[in-house]
Amino acid sequence: MAKDGKALVVFFSHAGDNYAVGNIEVGNTKIVADYITEQTGAEQFEIVTHKYDGMAYTPLINLAKEEVKKGELPAYEGDIDLSKYDTVFIGGPVWWGTYPQVMFTFFKKHANDLKGKTVIPFTTHEGSGLANCAKDVKDAFPGANVQKGFSIYGHEVRTEKRKVEKWLNGLGY
Ligand SMILES: Cc1cc2nc3c(=O)[nH]c(=O)nc-3n(C[C@H](O)[C@H](O)[C@H](O)COP(=O)(O)O)c2cc1C
Repeated sequence: MAKDGKALVVFFSHAGDNYAVGNIEVGNTKIVADYITEQTGAEQFEIVTHKYDGMAYTPLINLAKEEVKKGELPAYEGDIDLSKYDTVFIGGPVWWGTYPQVMFTFFKKHANDLKGKTVIPFTTHEGSGLANCAKDVKDAFPGANVQKGFSIYGHEVRTEKRKVEKWLNGLGY
């Protein structure tokens, strides 16, 4: 059962200029990560890079597209030992059909650290749902028990907390 044992939420979230919800101080995915923590008692590891700080929406869109095209793996700050966790939620925004490239930096580094563990992907998005995220997580962590995953519109996260609660209830939390 997912609810037995220690849980962690690993996420990336970009605060700042956002097409759908304006200039936001806390990113959409971080809000969902906080709901998960509140309801499950999970710890958090935020994948942080300062590469996109202060960027307006259009230049960010273009930069992110370039990163995907080139398969770039931007560095993130700090790291975490995953060995003590049984369940790992992994979440981020959908950027060009999958998670931001900086999350793949994390995935590559920890590719062998989630064998036999329960991994639960989630996204915030503006129309793509889970896009390729769950599949990419499956590919990134061979031997992990990757669950179906959950997605929510970014513009809904502040008003539709109950959607997150309902999803977590379904997982036994
Ligand atoms: C660079 C970039 C690319 C995006 N690509 C997509 C996309 O392919 N599909 C989609 O539904 N939303 C896309 N979005 C919208 C974000 O997924 C959505 O606003 C998300 O909630 C942002 O989460 P955050 O505030 O945690 O970063 C994109 C946003 C950005 C900035």
